[in-house]
Amino acid sequence: MATIELKDVRKVYGTNIEAIKGVSLDIKDGEMIVLVGPSGCGKSTLLRMVAGLESITSGDVTIAGRRVNNLEPSERDIAMVFQNYALYPHMTVRQNLAYGLKNRNTPKDEIDRRITEAARALEIEQFLERKPRQLSGGQRQRVAMGRAIVRKPAAFLFDEPLSNLDAKLRVQMRVEIRRLQRSLETTSIYVTHDQMEAMTLADRLVVLNAGRIEQVGTPIELYEKPATTFVATFIGSPSMNLMPLAGKKGTGVNWPANVATIGIRPEDLVIADTVAGSGFRANVQVMAVELVGAESYVHGVTEDGSAIVFRVPGRSVIAIGETLSLTAAADRFHLFDAEGRRVDT
Ligand SMILES: Nc1ncnc2c1ncn2[C@@H]1O[C@H](COP(=O)(O)OP(=O)(O)OP(=O)(O)O)[C@@H](O)[C@H]1O
Ligand SMILES: [Mg+2]
Repeated sequence: MATIELKDVRKVYGTNIEAIKGVSLDIKDGEMIVLVGPSGCGKSTLLRMVAGLESITSGDVTIAGRRVNNLEPSERDIAMVFQNYALYPHMTVRQNLAYGLKNRNTPKDEIDRRITEAARALEIEQFLERKPRQLSGGQRQRVAMGRAIVRKPAAFLFDEPLSNLDAKLRVQMRVEIRRLQRSLETTSIYVTHDQMEAMTLADRLVVLNAGRIEQVGTPIELYEKPATTFVATFIGSPSMNLMPLAGKKGTGVNWPANVATIGIRPEDLVIADTVAGSGFRANVQVMAVELVGAESYVHGVTEDGSAIVFRVPGRSVIAIGETLSLTAAADRFHLFDAEGRRVDT
């Protein structure tokens, strides 16, 4: 078990590709940190620098109090789990699990004990004598997890480990990874661009944007108090509605002078028979209705041309082209300045 510290970490590829532009982060012992952000924001780069698979241009990476900048991956006491499993195809599951331990001269009975333990935790006992190609995708992913677990490393590093799996299996494995990580209490960094995965797995979420940290916090903190419009629209599905404040004066609310944008989550908008009271109100023309199962997402446009999405329970009877009055209570607003930073009232 270990803490991981990043101090002003930077990565420049070649001479001028600045992939990580100064990231500082203290990860607690046993904590599950999820790095999330759009494609190309630097998630894998940052993880690979912690792993030792990528050199660190400047700054410090410390694992369990030890500066690891110049240590080989094998000397850092970490285990990585990738999207593409990276299992040895010619070895059985048991041999795959044992491989890393044999290389470290672990005694045979200790290897057997750890394999039995991990196989039981992951429910892969019945597959131990099979080759990877005789397993399903989910089973292979379990073996990849098992290989990390048997090492008993100071930290797990995951790079989109579930993105090759179908939707149902992803959810199952997500729950399983969370359960395992909690019971092993191994410090973990988990990279994903899937915000549902991020929300459900993380003790704390780190939102990366173009090589910089936008915000760090618990999933609920980020959902309820996004620090920027970037985080506001990245966390939550469908995304938060953002509208320019211009044209929305006279809603009965005293806006701070620097507010430029208001944000309203889709679930905070309700259809009203009459438009009255303070807060947001607008007539919205319905452009599209998406049924997603237990609810529907209704997409529309306000009279002043802002796109807006809101949720209605179950199968919606709302017709395309219809005009609806929407309201949202003022205490549900998220306010942002012209730079996209949160304004608290
Ligand atoms: N070996 C490399 N040489 C040069 N540039 C690179 C290299 N690897 C990554 N980059 C660049 O660094 C930036 C960050 O890449 P990175 O792979 O870390 O993104 P990511 O957040 O993991 O994206 P994704 O979600 O698509 O996996 C990108 O602009 C990418 O093009
Ligand atoms: Mg990546």
